[in-house]
Amino acid sequence: MASILLVTSSPRGADSLSTRFATEIAEGLMVRTGGTLSIRDLAAAPLPHIGQAYIQGRVAPPEERTPEQAEAVRLAQELVDEVKAADLIVLGSGMINFGPPSQLKAWFDHITWPGVTFGYGEGGRPRGFLTGKKVYLVAAAGGVFSEGEWAPFDFQTGYLRHLLGFIGLTDVELVRVEGTVFGPEAARAAIDATAGRVRSVLETLHA
Ligand SMILES: Cc1cc2nc3c(=O)[nH]c(=O)nc-3n(C[C@H](O)[C@H](O)[C@H](O)COP(=O)(O)O)c2cc1C
Repeated sequence: MASILLVTSSPRGADSLSTRFATEIAEGLMVRTGGTLSIRDLAAAPLPHIGQAYIQGRVAPPEERTPEQAEAVRLAQELVDEVKAADLIVLGSGMINFGPPSQLKAWFDHITWPGVTFGYGEGGRPRGFLTGKKVYLVAAAGGVFSEGEWAPFDFQTGYLRHLLGFIGLTDVELVRVEGTVFGPEAARAAIDATAGRVRSVLETLHA
């Protein structure tokens, strides 16, 4: 039985396409695998930005942490444990100013943790520890970034893939919903295309 973790992050609430399609995938995975679903909604319950308490707390011996440091490390550990417990992770990210929403950046800042989710191996090469999991990354954007003249400015999917790979999550299936700002017809076509892609992702799944 698969454990599924859904992480959503769009600040656009019910209008969010990344949340909509990520939720569809997560619920589809749950039905097809008979698994369990945990949800981390980073927009409804935003994480704090990392600060001194976390940065100093995570290298301090537990018994020497201040209460503030202990709380910052506890939160990061909770987020890491959620990822560790998951077999399948569905991430929703809607482009804000060419990158992922800051809510999602804050999540990565907590879970990208030396000695816990990554380390340095032979020759100082980084090695991610969160291996053996599959990630479905739903990336929404107003413009088109999969090809064409704006592709070099997609600092969302390249960045997220890099961060995921850095902590060991290298098996990433990308689902884009893009080109939604060019009028209602184009938006409808983009949404229909993504809906079809989500269906085929779920259909090819072998439960
Ligand atoms: C504050 C803000 C900034 C945005 N910045 C960009 C951008 O840099 N490039 C782009 O193509 N679309 C941009 N958009 C459009 C969103 O990427 C688009 O609405 C997308 O669907 C957002 O994801 P969501 O539907 O999951 O919220 C922006 C939207 C907002 C609200």
